[in-house]
Amino acid sequence: MPILKIARMGHPVLGRRAEEVPDPTLPGVRRLVDDMIETMHDAGGRGLAAPQVHVPLRVAVFITPEDPDYEGVTAIVNPVWELLTDERVAGWEGCLSVPEMRGLVPRAPKVRYTGVTPEGETIDRTVTGMHAVVVQHEFDHLDGILYPQRMDDLKLLIFESEWRWYAPREAEGAADDAAQE
Ligand code: NI
Repeated sequence: MPILKIARMGHPVLGRRAEEVPDPTLPGVRRLVDDMIETMHDAGGRGLAAPQVHVPLRVAVFITPEDPDYEGVTAIVNPVWELLTDERVAGWEGCLSVPEMRGLVPRAPKVRYTGVTPEGETIDRTVTGMHAVVVQHEFDHLDGILYPQRMDDLKLLIFESEWRWYAPREAEGAADDAAQE
């Protein structure tokens, strides 16, 4: 299984709406998912969407270690999602397609999403917390949206090297402000 090349911000594949997969159970989809999982682990990421590996299809893989209800890797094809609250909570995000940067992004703390696995099993989950954040980030990729486009304040789009030293205190204040909106 090859490690795939990851597209970086500016490549057109990251800015387009990805296409539905006509048959999620085709062997090619399983192979794509296996390669995406290997690429995600190799890159130290917690999620990866197919457009990030130059494949404009509605496929994503991710891990949600904070959520004991859904351990292991999730692979989802043709996801449909709904934000279940108007509330937004700001948290720091990074993206394998926006290397070495972090940004403070407001996200809905509760999301329902459905889809199918490459095995043809139905997924129907209502999730909160980090799990909700991760799926919003990954599913945005399928609509051609990168996290900086979701940010309220681009002053908080910063390099990881600076974030390590300067962000934690800033994030607390900023997160409180965002949560009060
Ligand atoms: Ni990303």
